[in-house]
Amino acid sequence: MRKKVTIVGAGQTGATLAHWLAERGDVDIVMYDIVEGMPQGKALDLLEAMPIIGSDAKICGTNGWEETAGSDIVVITSGLPRKPGMSRDDLLKVNSGIVASCTKSVCALSPNAILILLSNPLDAMCHVALQESGFPSSRVFGQAGILDSARFRAFLAMETGASVNEINAYVLGGHGDDMVPLLGSTNVGGVPITKLIAPDRLASIVERTRKGGGEIVGLLKTGSAFYAPSAALAQMVDAVINDRKRILPCAVHTGSDGAGYGIPNLYMGLPARIGAAGVEEILTMDLTTDEKAALQKSAGSVQELVDALKNLDPPMLH
Ligand code: 2OP
Repeated sequence: MRKKVTIVGAGQTGATLAHWLAERGDVDIVMYDIVEGMPQGKALDLLEAMPIIGSDAKICGTNGWEETAGSDIVVITSGLPRKPGMSRDDLLKVNSGIVASCTKSVCALSPNAILILLSNPLDAMCHVALQESGFPSSRVFGQAGILDSARFRAFLAMETGASVNEINAYVLGGHGDDMVPLLGSTNVGGVPITKLIAPDRLASIVERTRKGGGEIVGLLKTGSAFYAPSAALAQMVDAVINDRKRILPCAVHTGSDGAGYGIPNLYMGLPARIGAAGVEEILTMDLTTDEKAALQKSAGSVQELVDALKNLDPPMLH
């Protein structure tokens, strides 16, 4: 039977995710949004494109939760995007309310779904969704690491002239300005990146990666990135739907044992095996001393947001 994917939030990222998924053609898609007519219009427009591209995907748009019932995967993209000058963290209060209410409504009707978060600040929003869904953390995780790693890989490909396919690189940590591009393991076709790019150039590529989301916000002025974020979401959906066992950097919950990183009970970007059950395993990488320190710092920033959510009035996390 074809799997059902609900996309909560039919804005730029949600709609573009629907587009990527519809082209693949292996799932049925429900686009939910509170704006009347908008998800219906986008879904109908996309559905009408299917005969042209030869896909039998079923796509519907709705302002009601009933149509989302029985989803296998739910992707939550709802929330305000950043405006120029805003950090992802400035969105904390408003987006935590939106994510909490959407999670509650959608999970009540799809109790076996796998929940993938995109709303910012991402790692903190995963905590809200975990609490509100009552799901195990293996079924609640977030998109950020694929996007951050893709930005890093794109910049490294531009710098070296190599194909993006030859650039192996991970960006771990929280989806914030202190995310952690792993220079120690980054390579181009097996050649360490530090042998190919001078330290000052590499440092500026790392900085551009960390500020990659802000660079797009600054250019667009009225919204944030959506092509690359939605492509990353589509890769995660594909990994689950087709039980691909892909190792993907995702915002995952480290559990009480800290997943081998010494950082317990926190969502942050780590490499994980993603398959039909969701997060099937978190992989423990060998990090350099500097990378370990940077990961701890990044975890500290996520923890600050989690604490801020606990201190809101009313508290958004218990
Ligand atoms: C970004 O980094 C939207 O957070 C997302 O572009």
